[in-house]
Amino acid sequence: MTSALESPDAVTARAPAKVNLELFVGPLREDGFHSLSTVYQAVGIHDEVTAARADEWGCTVSGRDAERVPTNDSNLAIQAARALAERTGGQDPVHLSIHKEIPVAGGMAGGSADAAAALLACNALWETDLSREDLDAIAADIGSDVPFLLHGGTAVGSGRGELVTAVLAKGRYHWVFVPCTGSGLSTPTVYEAFDARTAGSEITDPVPSAALMSALRTGDPLELAPVLDNDLQPDAVGLQPQIGEIIEAAMGFGALAAIVSGSGPTVAILAGSTEGAIDVAVALTASGVAGDILRATGPVHGAHVLPTARLL
Ligand code: C5P
Repeated sequence: MTSALESPDAVTARAPAKVNLELFVGPLREDGFHSLSTVYQAVGIHDEVTAARADEWGCTVSGRDAERVPTNDSNLAIQAARALAERTGGQDPVHLSIHKEIPVAGGMAGGSADAAAALLACNALWETDLSREDLDAIAADIGSDVPFLLHGGTAVGSGRGELVTAVLAKGRYHWVFVPCTGSGLSTPTVYEAFDARTAGSEITDPVPSAALMSALRTGDPLELAPVLDNDLQPDAVGLQPQIGEIIEAAMGFGALAAIVSGSGPTVAILAGSTEGAIDVAVALTASGVAGDILRATGPVHGAHVLPTARLL
């Protein structure tokens, strides 16, 4: 009885999506990644992962875009669970049930969120005594965005995005997201387009902009809007021109700013208030420019374990 209470058979964790308020791309490194300076913000769209003790490793996916998520070993949540099991000297298998709200392959780190949630869920289920640093190191091996999704809030990402430092940010920001997943842009393809476009020009290691840092300290979306920036935007728009049309339409409908989120194709639209966000979302839908629209505020907390419901 006591041990059943201490060791649940299943643990659920949830992790948020992210938007990049700023994404500066530096030189291509020897390991095939680009050095980055980015400012992430976690936003209130979440995936949930339940890790349950099982006879064999497995994974099922439900919710938004579920059919587009692999359930084999290429699934980032499975990779995270297996990496944690290996790091802690072998663990019994788990079945991961992933419930998605974050658009798949959208530049909002949906797969990385699943990895972050799986790490926390399995870590709690297996009752490992890993430190936060150990978890961050496993997270970084899974993907550049995973450590930030454990962290949450608003933070600078450096290195290839995996080195996370909190920034002083005030305020609550209202976002509208248009997934724009039509043809699907893969992250490597967008980075390759960036390399081709910038070939021959000298690229130095980027640093966060003082303008963005001071805008975040005001907490005022009117200050933040003009300093949002993404070096990959021309490449994402070049590969998928519909993104440019959505950005233009959003600005015409009163958005404070509209940028590509990460490597795209999701367009992140900043509004001044809840009403402003609803207005832009309704106008985009009514005009037929965008069908699928999500709204969220940020910043929100990083990945966290949910209280375990117990059957009496
Ligand atoms: O780490 P993540 O899974 O997000 O990276 C996916 C791909 O995006 C990498 O294999 C690489 O092609 C590209 N990338 C990059 N530089 C980064 C992050 C990602 O070139 N800093």
